[in-house]
Amino acid sequence: LSSVPGVRERTLIAIKPDGVQRRLVGQIIQRFEQRGFKLVGLKMLQVSDDLLSQHYGQLRTKPFYPGLLQYMTSGPVVAMVWEGYKVIESSRMMVGHTNPAEAQPGTVRGDFSIHVSRNVVHASDSVEGAQREIQLWFKGKELLNWECCDHASTF
Ligand code: PPS
Repeated sequence: LSSVPGVRERTLIAIKPDGVQRRLVGQIIQRFEQRGFKLVGLKMLQVSDDLLSQHYGQLRTKPFYPGLLQYMTSGPVVAMVWEGYKVIESSRMMVGHTNPAEAQPGTVRGDFSIHVSRNVVHASDSVEGAQREIQLWFKGKELLNWECCDHASTF
């Protein structure tokens, strides 16, 4: 199965400072666990300007960039790597539209946020983006391979 495209996919999900401050960490993790994805990396960190400028480098010229940096450094972030079949596409659907005003109810942003400047969570948007972001946020030894006996681990 591991050779089937999408099966061993990994994505970076980061709960932004507003998500941590509003005590949403448990509910967000629960959504990914109950969907059947596997948590393979998890840490809480105060994000550095250096990491942010690499992560959001392509947005440097956007008018909202200074506010985005201020927001992302306003408190700790919970960074996670989730693994599973088509996890990148599925997690983008679970997280919802970048602008919460356009996010569907039932998505993280559609349920917990109203404005793009406080949209609770980040999710990688492509296979290349996920690989780049995971390498940026996590050291290889911080990602764990583990197996269990229930069906969720199959994918
Ligand atoms: S753009 O302009 O189309 O490139 O931007 P977009 O793809 O919609 O969003 C890229 C990331 O910037 C965040 N963003 C903002 N942050 C703070 N304030 C404002 N106004 C704002 N607009 C966009 C957006 O949430 C994306 O970050 P991530 O971490 O991927 O959610």
